[in-house]
Amino acid sequence: MSILVTGGAGFLGSHVAVELLEADYDVVVADNYVNSVPKAIGRVEEITGKKIKTYGADVSSDEELDRIFTENEIEAVIHCAGLKAVGESVEKPLLYYKVNLETAIATLQAMERHGVRGFVFSSSATVYGENCPVPYTEDMPAGGCTNPYGWTKYMIERIAIDAAKTGKIDAVLLRYFNPIGAHPSGLIGEDPAGIPNNLMPYISQVAVGRREKLSIFGDDYPTPDGTGVRDYIHVVDLAKGHVLAIEYMKEHRGYEIINLGTGRGTSVLELVHAFERVNNVPIPHVITERRAGDLAEVWAVADKARRLLGWTAELTVEDMCRDSYNWQKKNPNGYGN
Ligand code: WQD
Repeated sequence: MSILVTGGAGFLGSHVAVELLEADYDVVVADNYVNSVPKAIGRVEEITGKKIKTYGADVSSDEELDRIFTENEIEAVIHCAGLKAVGESVEKPLLYYKVNLETAIATLQAMERHGVRGFVFSSSATVYGENCPVPYTEDMPAGGCTNPYGWTKYMIERIAIDAAKTGKIDAVLLRYFNPIGAHPSGLIGEDPAGIPNNLMPYISQVAVGRREKLSIFGDDYPTPDGTGVRDYIHVVDLAKGHVLAIEYMKEHRGYEIINLGTGRGTSVLELVHAFERVNNVPIPHVITERRAGDLAEVWAVADKARRLLGWTAELTVEDMCRDSYNWQKKNPNGYGN
C-alpha cells in the first residue's frame, strides 16, 4: 500500500515524502512540475535511500488519476498540488480557482471511484483572515480571506468536508502557519520562481548575495517591535504532522480541521536577527511601506494537533534559520532552473 502525494516535488510535498519514507510508507508522487522540478524527487531518494514511483501528471485529469490509482495500491492521498502565490492569485484569480479547485475535486472524485478514503489537505492559516482575533483556534468562523489563493483553500476545505459527510471520504484539513526551514541535509528546500514573495526565502537569498537587501514591510504595526508577527514552523515538523494525520485516519472516520503551528509568534525583525546570529551572516535591510493585505499578527493555538495527532512542533526558530541557510548555501540557485 502506498500514499499518493500530489505536488510531491514541491517544497512541502518533498519534505512530506521524506517523512513518509522514513516512517516506512511507500510513496507515489504526482506532480506536473509547474512550480517544481523532478530533481527534487531524486534528492528525496538520496536522503532516504528509497525509491519513489513518480508520475509527471496533472491531477486535474481523470485519466491520469485513474492510471495512478489503477497501477498502484493507494491507501490515502496527501493533496499538496496547487498554485500558491498570493500576489499572482490577485492578478490571475480565475487561473487560481480553476487549477486549485479542479485538482482537488478531480482527486477526491478519483478517490471515490477507487474506494480510497483518506484525504489530507494542505490548507492554510490564511483562511482565518481578518474576521478572527489571534491566536487562531480551529472552531473560529474562518472565511476572512483577503485574496483568491486564500479563498481556494477555504473552498477546498468546504468541498472536502461535504465529501466527508457522504461517509465515503475521511479528511484531515491541515491549516499550515508559516512553513520555513529545510531538510537538515540541505538537499531539499524552498526554491521559489523569480523574486521571492515570502520572508525566509528572501532572507536566505540576501544571505548568499543573490539579493542586495531585504525590505521589511512596515514597522508601525501594533506589535512589540512594530514589525509583523507570524507563527513560523519548521517544514520538517510540518511534514511529520502529515504522517500522523495518515495514522489518525486509520482509526477515525469523518473530518477534522487541525492547525499546524508552534503556538508562538516571531516578528520580522526577530527572525532577521535570529538568522544573523545563528548563521553569523549580515542581512542588510530597510524598512518600507506595509504590504497590502498583510495582518499585524498571526499565530496558532496548536493544542488540537497535540490532542488528536500527538503532534507538537519540536524545532526552534534557530533550527529554521540554520536549515534555511544551509539549503541556500548548498544550492545558491535552488535546483538550478
Ligand atoms: C511574513 C512576514 C510580511 C516578505 C503567506 C501567505 C500564506 C502562506 C505563506 C503560502 C509578514 C513580512 C515578507 C518581505 C517582509 N502561503 N515580509 N518582507 O504573508 O504571513 O503568508 O505565505 O503558500 O497563505 O499569505 O508570509 O513570508 O510573505 O510574510 O517584511 O520581503 O514578513 O509583511 O509580516 P505571510 P510571508
